[in-house]
Amino acid sequence: MQSAIRHLQSDTVQYLKARLGDISAFDIANDLLVAISGIDMFFRNQEDFLATKELLKPCFAVSEETDRREYGDFQTPSKLADSICSHLTAENISPDVIIEPTFGKGSFLLSAVKLFGEVKEIYGVEIHEPYYWQTKFSILEYFINNRKQNKPKIFLYHNNVFQFDFGTIEKSIGRHNVLILGNPPWVTNSELGSLDAHNLPGKSNFKALNGLDAITGKGNFDICEYIILMMIKLFSKYNGHMAMLTKNAVIKNLIYDLPKMNYNIHNSSALRINAKEHFDASVEASLFKCSFGRDDNQSAFLCKVSMLASPNVVENTFGWVRDKFVSDMTSYGTHKKYDGVSQYIWRQGIKHDCSNIMELDSLSGNKYRNGLGQEMNIENDMIYGLIKSSDLHSPVITQHRKHVIVTQRMIGESTAHIEYQSPKLYQYLLQNKHHFDQRKSSIYKNKPLFSIFGVGEYSFKPYKVAISGLYKRSSFSLVLPVNGKPLMLDDTCYHLGFDNITDAIFVWAVLNSVHVQELLASITFLDAKRPYTKDVLMRLDINQVACDMTYEEIVAQIGSLDKTMIVDVNEDKWIIFREQFTNVKDKGGDQPSLFACQILIPSPLAGEG
Ligand SMILES: C[S@@+](CC[C@H](N)C(=O)[O-])C[C@H]1O[C@@H](n2cnc3c(N)ncnc32)[C@H](O)[C@@H]1O
Repeated sequence: MQSAIRHLQSDTVQYLKARLGDISAFDIANDLLVAISGIDMFFRNQEDFLATKELLKPCFAVSEETDRREYGDFQTPSKLADSICSHLTAENISPDVIIEPTFGKGSFLLSAVKLFGEVKEIYGVEIHEPYYWQTKFSILEYFINNRKQNKPKIFLYHNNVFQFDFGTIEKSIGRHNVLILGNPPWVTNSELGSLDAHNLPGKSNFKALNGLDAITGKGNFDICEYIILMMIKLFSKYNGHMAMLTKNAVIKNLIYDLPKMNYNIHNSSALRINAKEHFDASVEASLFKCSFGRDDNQSAFLCKVSMLASPNVVENTFGWVRDKFVSDMTSYGTHKKYDGVSQYIWRQGIKHDCSNIMELDSLSGNKYRNGLGQEMNIENDMIYGLIKSSDLHSPVITQHRKHVIVTQRMIGESTAHIEYQSPKLYQYLLQNKHHFDQRKSSIYKNKPLFSIFGVGEYSFKPYKVAISGLYKRSSFSLVLPVNGKPLMLDDTCYHLGFDNITDAIFVWAVLNSVHVQELLASITFLDAKRPYTKDVLMRLDINQVACDMTYEEIVAQIGSLDKTMIVDVNEDKWIIFREQFTNVKDKGGDQPSLFACQILIPSPLAGEG
């Protein structure tokens, strides 16, 4: 409350002092304030009232909670809230009831009272008490200065949105038009985990993910997404709209889940804002807008993207085109024939969650230094060159900066043999066992000592075609062995492995062709944390693209490769390469012998492997 009163103009303070000065009971003060501002129960009790009167006296100290990361606290500047509400009124959205589930310092509520002339009731919830007071006093101040303005009934609650009972609000909506407005917290459940914070809904697996998806990161969600879904579930059965500021990743998830979750919304759009300018946040964000109610048209599963500043200029449309999720519907039309099922199984690189111990710099011979600066002499046989996302910047990779210890050849393999096979390495691992024991992920539970993931026969293939999952660039690199040993990729990369360089070159050329590159542009979301995922890569129908490419196109594609690499590349080999997939089908599913790489006979998308 202290900081709320500190934000008032001195005229407002004088006004309140004069009007409240002679009043001694909070309910009489409340009668006066509801008449001035529409705010119901301005003071919750006598204590609130006396505290306010005390604070209206000159001089008081202010102490504010500083670390509000747990609450995803990015307050909307009033200028932005005003332009959003102006946009909504220009779209003829004229709500009777407005609900702001996490109102903060109240910029949306203030814009709403200013700009929605017909609104009858406003409801808001906020967990942080100083903001609760600041909003109340700001609205009071607004009505003191604008006495003729339409005065809705305003109900503000200091409460946790996850515990608040929205039932009472629902009752008052009836046939009225509702608008869910606001900007819910910008924080993910895993960020909360790292802050050891608990600002979470009771049931956090609200998408009912299976155990593996929860482990592989699909279980990480934004609190904001949960709140938006909660509002959709509660209020989409009424007439009205939603307009919420949120990260683009959240909007993508909402649209992605539309068919599965059967949400009662349509007419979705994302109006891009400059989050750096408004929130000093380096993230892509937009106003997510939708209408409540069902629309059985297929377009209900699409979302139009434009800028808030020019909402009528649609930049692109993303969402579901039949059973395919696409980022750009228009360009997708040209390349959709290549959107199928990959004949090869894409693999994520090695995961160990122990980089200080497992990733090494080579000093000389058998001498290495780990991430803690410890130097050691260890056997080389389980040590491989390591390529990370940041290393995949050129078409061909023949060098590496780091090394990685590969303790297993397949997931779950016993590691007992290391003690005899590489005793010095075993001693090193044993000395650092406590670092492995600290790995939080449940995938390492009840597994052999020093276990890793993302490893299998494919990891040891000499020739690889790889892409970074994290970077925006969609080009694929050819990764070649160094000193006769295959290079390993880390878990930020995806790859295919081959025994034979010519096959690797053909696949690399196909993947870098305009057909695949343009398809990727129309199905990936570059503002996602990981634009390229196994799911996206498994959609690339390499065979179909190969069938549409001539040998001349392949020659043009491989022109930059070193001559020594392409000695075996010729038109006959290309023809045989293209025929392999047809033969797979003809042979009723036998794996063709030419390809030592794992080939997937077309089937529904596989899970993460
Ligand atoms: C991104 S800020 C936006 C505030 C306001 N909606 C606006 O547009 O300026 C998110 C707000 O959610 C509040 N908040 C966070 N967790 C909450 C919870 N569990 N219940 C209610 N409010 C919460 C924070 O205190 C913060 O004020």
